[in-house]
Amino acid sequence: MDLIESPSAMTSWARDQARAGKIIALVPTMGAFHEGHLCLMRHAAGLADRVVVSLFVNPLQFGPREDLARYPRNLPRDLELAAGAKVDLVFAPAVDAMYPQGSLTRVQVAELTDTLCGARRPGHFDGVTTVVAKLFNIVGPQVAVFGRKDLQQLAVIRRLTLDLNWAVEIIGHPIVREADGLAMSSRNIYLTPAGRCSALALHRVINFARQRAATGEADAAALTAEVRARLLMDPAVRVDYVSIVHQHRLVATPILTRDSVLALAVFIGTTRLIDNGLLLTEE
Ligand code: PAF
Repeated sequence: MDLIESPSAMTSWARDQARAGKIIALVPTMGAFHEGHLCLMRHAAGLADRVVVSLFVNPLQFGPREDLARYPRNLPRDLELAAGAKVDLVFAPAVDAMYPQGSLTRVQVAELTDTLCGARRPGHFDGVTTVVAKLFNIVGPQVAVFGRKDLQQLAVIRRLTLDLNWAVEIIGHPIVREADGLAMSSRNIYLTPAGRCSALALHRVINFARQRAATGEADAAALTAEVRARLLMDPAVRVDYVSIVHQHRLVATPILTRDSVLALAVFIGTTRLIDNGLLLTEE
């Protein structure tokens, strides 16, 4: 497996692959790999001739009071894990290489970024779409794989790709969960053992809501209230939002449809966790 740190060297490598007729799949990441990332990488390997994983903790998408400084970083471990997951190349640029003159430009998707996490993390999605646009330009992939845990990110990137005519197929990979249901996340390592127990409420309420939907509850407001009440039964859980929205358009679906997804964000201590689940459709 190769490691490239310079954007121009990355583009040369990708152009050589394109000249040789190879299809490139890109898996954009911020590192701190867990089984969820490795699943995305292995899935990408089945879709393309070459898998490129970008590993870049993007400062543009962190707010001033967020965890940029303490975000977990361990390049040697990540390289070893990626090498075992059918990855051909890791692109791991330094911040100065990605933003050599700072960054005056933002790529912004309107409306879809005003809600859910976007409403709580101003500028976050502009940082995400700006770096993803740069990665698409640098790597030139035909396929890009993102996790469905970041429901809003996936919807925003799909729209970005559509609006800017990028010939990149965006693949949403199902959420990868621990055996007890906790959605895998690089931020889970911040949880104390007690906090980790509290975090299981997310998956529990998704299952509860799916069950209520399957047995006839179609009123999103009523279901949202029930889910919120269940989450608040644990005093360690602080609810950031509980919303039922259309999985792609992210607008409220007052009466459940097959596209209705329960989207959750909670704080356990200072750790913010998100999760989601379609209510009437198998994942
Ligand atoms: O999901 C992530 O890890 C990041 O938001 C992404 C897509 C790699 C952009 O920095």
